[in-house]
Amino acid sequence: MSRVALVTGGSRGIGAAISIALKNAGYTVAANYAGNDEAAAKFTAETGIKTYKWSVADYDACVAGIAKVEADLGPVDVLVNNAGITRDAPFHKMTREQWKEVMDTNLSGLFNMTHPLWPGMRDRKFGRVISISSINGQKGQFGQANYSAAKAGDIGFTKALAQEGARAGITVNVICPGYIATEMVMAVPEKVRESIIATIPVGRLGEPEDIARCVVFLASDEAGFITGSTITANGGQYLT
Ligand code: CAA
Repeated sequence: MSRVALVTGGSRGIGAAISIALKNAGYTVAANYAGNDEAAAKFTAETGIKTYKWSVADYDACVAGIAKVEADLGPVDVLVNNAGITRDAPFHKMTREQWKEVMDTNLSGLFNMTHPLWPGMRDRKFGRVISISSINGQKGQFGQANYSAAKAGDIGFTKALAQEGARAGITVNVICPGYIATEMVMAVPEKVRESIIATIPVGRLGEPEDIARCVVFLASDEAGFITGSTITANGGQYLT
């Protein structure tokens, strides 16, 4: 029987590419999404991948959503914490709401999704937790004190949890994409975006599939010795 993978924010952007790549690799995939019903319906129609609506910022909604996915598809073996938002503003203009929204989704979302799935993974002695952080959690970014802090937190979360999961056959890893051609990056003002692309040695934005391939590898049995690691995929823009 194929393993079940749950991808948060899995119907658009990088998450959609991850859902599709995992499906193509033989997983039964559930794609969570928070708000865009139209995009989710289109994604399901095009890919056959089931979509489930809840906010990763809401713990109780995560518990209920995961229960529904597991009732439909079986126990989740692979969790991809991909859902993320931006609320960019220079710090002197940043509101508490902008801080909180980003923290709740991009950092607490990892707790909210991983915590309910963790006991089952421990019992079954197998699990893969793969989180999508960002280059901006590694290097910081003007206008993203909230986002950079949350994404750096994702890396710390991974390093701590990897140590706890190791003996139970659970690997926990994080991927730091650079600037990928998605709606999120296209929302950055064009002049700013062009100046960012000029700093990417490979000379282009990444493709969502560049990140999806990393996820498929980390999810595989062959990657069982890799845990607590940070995979950097940014076209050489920032070297760690
Ligand atoms: N370094 C130094 N100064 C900068 C700067 C930078 N990187 N970016 C902007 N500034 C300066 C501007 O030149 C301007 O200076 P002046 O006032 O002297 O002209 C000032 O900062 C900006 O002031 P504004 O009042 O115009 O600021 P704003 O309210 O319009 O907001 C911003 C600016 C929201 C930060 C905007 O510059 C922006 O969106 N920047 C992009 C941030 C970014 O890269 N976000 C990544 C989104 S994609 C993503 O997050 C995915 C991922 O993981 C990679």
